[in-house]
Amino acid sequence: MADKQKRILTGDRPTGQLHLGHYVGSLKKRVELQNEYDTNLIIADLHMLTTKPTHDDIAAIATNARSLVTAYLAAGIDPENVNIYLQSAIPEVCELNLIFEMLVTVNRLQRVPSLKDMAKAANMSDEEMPFGLLGYPVLQAADILGPRANLVPVGKDNESHIEVTREIARRFNNLYGEVFPIPDAMIGEVPTLVGIDGQAKMSKSLGNCIYLNDDENTVNKKVRKMYTDPNRVSADVPGQVEGNPVFIYHDAFNPDKAQVEDFKTRYREGRIGDVEVKEALAGAVNNVLEPMRKRAVEIEADTGYVDQVIMDGTMKVREMFVETMREVKKAMGLRSVMNSISRKAETRRKKLGL
Ligand code: TRP
Repeated sequence: MADKQKRILTGDRPTGQLHLGHYVGSLKKRVELQNEYDTNLIIADLHMLTTKPTHDDIAAIATNARSLVTAYLAAGIDPENVNIYLQSAIPEVCELNLIFEMLVTVNRLQRVPSLKDMAKAANMSDEEMPFGLLGYPVLQAADILGPRANLVPVGKDNESHIEVTREIARRFNNLYGEVFPIPDAMIGEVPTLVGIDGQAKMSKSLGNCIYLNDDENTVNKKVRKMYTDPNRVSADVPGQVEGNPVFIYHDAFNPDKAQVEDFKTRYREGRIGDVEVKEALAGAVNNVLEPMRKRAVEIEADTGYVDQVIMDGTMKVREMFVETMREVKKAMGLRSVMNSISRKAETRRKKLGL
């Protein structure tokens, strides 16, 4: 067994169901790496607050957290080896966030491309951008550096956040001494999966997803309606393979590479219909999802199990944060400020016999 000296910290916001884009973008990598790295998965509920959640959105966090954890476990994450934790249950993350806020400029954060996209998806104009949304990558840096993680497997959209994390870690180390590792991002096999409608990205807000808990019928229906080469009016017309979502998905989900190559050749030559290619794709996607559906049913049958997993993971990760905050305050000289004051107060109390 590997000695797991290196640590992973990654995770998701509990906003809803995970989809195939999450799976090939990073979840699959996390499952593969869990035996090599000390792996910690965050349920980032504080990050959800950055995009104006309604009262109902917040009320749904517990349910969404449970379904997120169920999806992790169903995909093959082993809770004996991996800590899964709730961000808002660790107050030290806010303390570290505040310290990191001093180590990055507003100007730098305004250049993080994903923040504008998130504001847009939440129907906010530029003027409505909250201070906290601008600080999204700073809080993420606190998530990652609190446990002093070395590796962050995330989707492509999070790459710029990890860059901010690296800058903050370097800046802290330069100013106050070596406390933090400089973590690397690791992007999954398919950095950004196209949506089933052909839009550049599979995303809940675009409504173009296949969810990990979609049943077989739903997958069949969604694949049948998938966007493909729009110029191909019949099976004997040569079709476009490159950039065609149906073939991008075949590459991502169909393990039978010989079949995929055969389909591509015949598609280019106008010797195969879209229906046949799509039926095989639906089968391949269902083969990936079926074991997850089965495991999810078992996990859900054990009421309170995922809650227990979250509780255990949160306790362990909190210890990591407490230890890091101790070192951060020591390195910065913050600890001696309060120590000095309390010592003098104590001396006076003794002198006056109080
Ligand atoms: N930003 C991630 C997302 O897109 C969630 C997240 C919050 C995260 N903190 C993290 C990911 C730390 C990796 C590491 O939902």
